[in-house]
Amino acid sequence: MTMLREQLLDDLSQATTAEQVEQVRIKFLGRKGLITNLAKDTDFSKLSPEEKRDFGAKLNDLKRLATDALQEAADRAKNAAESHAGAGGARIGQETRLIDLTVPGSSSTLGTLHPVTMIQMELEQIFEGMGFCVLDSPEAETEFNNFESLNIPGDHPARDMQDTFWLQNDMVLRTHTSANQVRALKRFGAPFRGIFPGRCFRYEAIDPSHENTFYQCEGLMVDRNISVANLIGVMKTLLSEIFKKEVKVRLRPGFFPFVEPGFELDLNCLFCGGAGCPTCGDGWIELIPCGLVHPRVLEFGGIDPNAFSGFAFGLGLTRLAMMRYGIRDIRHFNSGDVRFYEQFAPIV
Ligand code: FA5
Repeated sequence: MTMLREQLLDDLSQATTAEQVEQVRIKFLGRKGLITNLAKDTDFSKLSPEEKRDFGAKLNDLKRLATDALQEAADRAKNAAESHAGAGGARIGQETRLIDLTVPGSSSTLGTLHPVTMIQMELEQIFEGMGFCVLDSPEAETEFNNFESLNIPGDHPARDMQDTFWLQNDMVLRTHTSANQVRALKRFGAPFRGIFPGRCFRYEAIDPSHENTFYQCEGLMVDRNISVANLIGVMKTLLSEIFKKEVKVRLRPGFFPFVEPGFELDLNCLFCGGAGCPTCGDGWIELIPCGLVHPRVLEFGGIDPNAFSGFAFGLGLTRLAMMRYGIRDIRHFNSGDVRFYEQFAPIV
């Protein structure tokens, strides 16, 4: 037994890993291990009762010593493995792996806001500064809101100016944000000051300045004694805030059944300086049609046209983004081409 004890301690002194310690355990305490076999290989019939007692006690001592020594060796091997990992790497979950902490990390890509979103946020801030509220409105509209409430009955030729996507349930994909005018007046009454930015849809031939899906921002102000002077004042504030420089505009008469009088406010093209180019055509970009709200629209909204008057405008938001960010072709906006969006600064 003394030899077995020496042999065990010698083997353990050379076992440095958990696997090597396990090999020693199997060699001595496994099912056919050297210590396990001691009892089996001994002929107890030849031993006196004292010898039997003595043998049993020594065997138990040896087993206890072997178990303790194996446990100590296993702990030593585990600690050594952990301190090795800690020196040059990190421990992940149950597993111990080597990671080189000096390798530079992989950077994540930051997204950008869509240019129309950016210009819309800017507009909202400007109009909120002038006391306007910002309203959301539905993209699928009733025929009443999109046309009839705006003084455009079914047989009116103005319907042909806005080729329309009709839905099977007789709703329309709104052709303009003006569709929210009467809804807002009915809900909030007068006085009212609000803008309604949103997406519009027209069955349209597409070119550098026309899309079938584009954004407008409607503005509506109704109060006592509102005149064209108020309209022009608000338009001037808007444009000088957006472009942060003097821009040339022109106001010309324009016809819309829901305003009287009606105007077209055009912006001198910022790409060609008014000389004419593929984006603008004749040097002017049609940007903000506007006018004084027609009395019938006020009536549809439940407002007395003898007590109140107002102005409305329908700003081409996508076209404004083109001018603001120098984008010559409107088709980029809906292209889904990441190279286009990547040109706009990341917003953190
Ligand atoms: C209207 O949509 C009227 N609802 C605007 C209005 C509101 C007039 C309130 C008076 C009072 P118009 O069809 O011109 O008007 O469109 C308004 C603006 O939307 C245009 O000036 C233009 O900037 C933009 N726009 C119109 N069609 C398209 C299109 N296919 N692609 C891109 N922008 C467009």
